[in-house]
Amino acid sequence: MTTTTAVIDLDLPGPTISRHVYGHFAEHLGRCIYGGFWVGEDSPVPNVRGIRADVVEALRALHIPNLRWPGGCFADDYHWRDGIGPRDQRPRMVNSHWGDVVEDNAFGTHEFMDLCDLLGADPYVSGNIGSGTVAEMSDWVEYLTRADDSPMAALRRANGRDEPWRVPFWGLGNEAWGCGGNLRVEQFASMARQYATYARDQGGNALYRIAAGASDADYHWTEVLMRSFDDLAQDPAAPAGPFQAVSLHYYTMSGPWSDKGSATEFTTDEWYLTLSRARYVDELLTRHSTVMDRYDPHRKVGLVVDEWGTWWNVEPGTNPGFLYQQNTLRDALVASVHLDAFHTHADRVVMANIAQTVNVLQAMILTDPDSGALVLTPTYHVFAMNTGHHDAASLAVHLRDVETRDVDGRSLPMVSASASTKDDTALVSLSNLDADAARTIVLDLRGRDVVGHTAHVLTAPALNAHNTAEAPSTVAPAPHAGVRAHPRGLEVDLPAHSYVTVALDLR
Ligand code: AHR
Repeated sequence: MTTTTAVIDLDLPGPTISRHVYGHFAEHLGRCIYGGFWVGEDSPVPNVRGIRADVVEALRALHIPNLRWPGGCFADDYHWRDGIGPRDQRPRMVNSHWGDVVEDNAFGTHEFMDLCDLLGADPYVSGNIGSGTVAEMSDWVEYLTRADDSPMAALRRANGRDEPWRVPFWGLGNEAWGCGGNLRVEQFASMARQYATYARDQGGNALYRIAAGASDADYHWTEVLMRSFDDLAQDPAAPAGPFQAVSLHYYTMSGPWSDKGSATEFTTDEWYLTLSRARYVDELLTRHSTVMDRYDPHRKVGLVVDEWGTWWNVEPGTNPGFLYQQNTLRDALVASVHLDAFHTHADRVVMANIAQTVNVLQAMILTDPDSGALVLTPTYHVFAMNTGHHDAASLAVHLRDVETRDVDGRSLPMVSASASTKDDTALVSLSNLDADAARTIVLDLRGRDVVGHTAHVLTAPALNAHNTAEAPSTVAPAPHAGVRAHPRGLEVDLPAHSYVTVALDLR
């Protein structure tokens, strides 16, 4: 086997990797909010004003930068006034998308903002375009962000909150091509302009407005949204308007929509198919960016991947509408491959939100509905190993002599990599996607002296290894001794099916 080389010019920093690509998503779906984040003040599970203390602690360790809420599809059914005021007087509603269950609105605006405060995360509020009015959205922004005695600020005060909150991120609808109204893109583009106009900046709060974007390879959707901006090509200093970003949703599964595959029972072929589909995100980002570049040569408009991750068949015996799934080493590598792509496209991808934080889809955390036990997933550990990339300058990684494998008509390189630098440090992320073979990679490190290194590895004997309440550390990061000096820099052992990070001290 030839040795793979990764050439990295440590003195040529590229665009900054926004910490916001490490964002999260919490929808009123299954046990994400209720039982995940929110247990209520009277719960025996330790909580702060009803919010699970252990979940907050685990997420704070990830430095979670932002949290998207209340959906997803739920957002376009959500009427914010139902979720304010005394909890026992809040109206109920049917959560028709997710299990057809009755939602009691115990977790609403104040609870979400409290959660963001506890997490130290920026709120990303997803506004309702599908079934909400322009006035309703406008009032919500006023309620959240206005300081004086305006009607909505007064209502917020009456509900116990004097100071306005800071809300940096605002979503204009969700999946408007589907659950968010089944709209044609031309119609939605006009509505996004209209709603964005009335989602006003109040006082010192500047909203970054994100219009519901395309799914997968729907480049036409992106194209029409980009056409709807005020002229972007003219003054490079003028901000984009009336909204500032478009979103993209892309989920990874190993089967068709009707049978997405099992989270834990899969073949080696399905392993490769999944990772090939994960890697496809790079092509999606390239092609959506190319469309955006045509209209926006100064790159004023952000691309926000505000839903991504694996979507498997639900765990046997669980509610099909609750989207509860296990999370294995395969999910961890799906995450690392996506994060590499976000780093590589840092010039356009300003934010991303993995779906979803707790108990739903590719979660960071699983909680047991009976015992309340909390489990950190393999995906959580990839996010933890990558915190050094937050707000660091991306570094190009040129891979040489990487073996590839033909998977479903595409060529899948067996190594995925990315790197960044901040102050006198650098972080290199390396995924060995090979199900069976370990390999060694030479890091050809140029431009700066490397005076020290620390490495960690995430792997397990089985491809489908995962963590449970009984065995919570089956997949957990460990210090990695397989790094040696090499005439060109460092030589790193990558065990089969592993994720490795190498932190460098630079002079
Ligand atoms: O994340 C689950 C669902 O997936 C979201 O509600 C929706 O936006 C998407 O289809």
